[in-house]
Amino acid sequence: MNNLTLIRPDDWHIHLRDGAALGTTVAHAAAQFARAIVMPNLAPPVVTAEQALAYRARILGHVPAGAKFEPLMTLYLTDNTPADEILRAKAAGVAALKLYPAGATTHSESGVTAIEKVYPVLEAMQTHDLPLLVHGEVTDPAIDIFDREAVFIERVLAPLIARFPALRVVFEHITTRAAADFVTAAPATVAATLTAHHLLYNRNALLAGGVRPHYYCLPVLKREADRQALLRAATSGSPKFFLGTDSAPHDRARKETACGCAGSYTAHAAIELYAEAFEQAGALDRLEGFASRFGPDFYRLPRNTDRITLVRQSWDIPERYPLADGALVPLRAGARVDWRIQP
Ligand code: DOR
Ligand code: ZN
Repeated sequence: MNNLTLIRPDDWHIHLRDGAALGTTVAHAAAQFARAIVMPNLAPPVVTAEQALAYRARILGHVPAGAKFEPLMTLYLTDNTPADEILRAKAAGVAALKLYPAGATTHSESGVTAIEKVYPVLEAMQTHDLPLLVHGEVTDPAIDIFDREAVFIERVLAPLIARFPALRVVFEHITTRAAADFVTAAPATVAATLTAHHLLYNRNALLAGGVRPHYYCLPVLKREADRQALLRAATSGSPKFFLGTDSAPHDRARKETACGCAGSYTAHAAIELYAEAFEQAGALDRLEGFASRFGPDFYRLPRNTDRITLVRQSWDIPERYPLADGALVPLRAGARVDWRIQP
């Protein structure tokens, strides 16, 4: 197969950042995706519907002329989110709320310190049918970083789903076989996003033969057996698994340093990287469901009507892209990718 035409995909999990960085991130996202679920972990975070609308306007101000791109906004849950913010969020067209356990990842300092603290908000979300997006890692320092996702399922996610059976939950950027199995067995209210980097790489890419900071993201890359399980889930045809890049730009200096930030940037070549992963699994025919149908179905939004075509054509990924007044190093910098979107 040398050509693949798909309904235009959406990205159900992206970090666009703010200010001048939007010039790069929004152009990349809009070149591929019709819509994207925009993460709220700015500094300070997006915690009110009003802030989400203002952020949305700043994003729209960076959509290149001629492109159509709809940012779908999210709010950042804190211990102090008032339950009535849910009504305002619903009225403002906010798509979902994001749960960051406090301290789990980039800009999660204002996150939730104990899940019970947000039960009243979760109750309101269940009533008003706003999905909960979950960064699924415990922050207990006694738990090994490679086990934090699996322990989160046991300690937080399974009890939460039992307590709020009608709440729609997206287990974001899953990285383990345990998570893929959990989502597969869970009720239809529970889905998961999968990143291109977790489908293509295991922790050897990060650690074997030298530390490669651009492969450091959270949850961290896991074992090959986990990657294989994620690839099976993504290509299974199950509507519970859909595309979410978790593309997360950081300035190069904040990645290539003694204590580097978590985040891999993939928005420059996202659908091409997913195509590589699906091809590896012999399942290119399943890419459209994963990239373009299951996400909107879960979010109860219409599927896109226009299409994109991927052609088998290698191109070299640049070493850098500009990011505000600095630079970012994209995933696969200076190397090849085998697919290209037909202009
Ligand atoms: O690797 C990550 N980067 N994981 C996250 O959860 C956050 C993200 C970011 O914002 O940089
Ligand atoms: Zn993320």
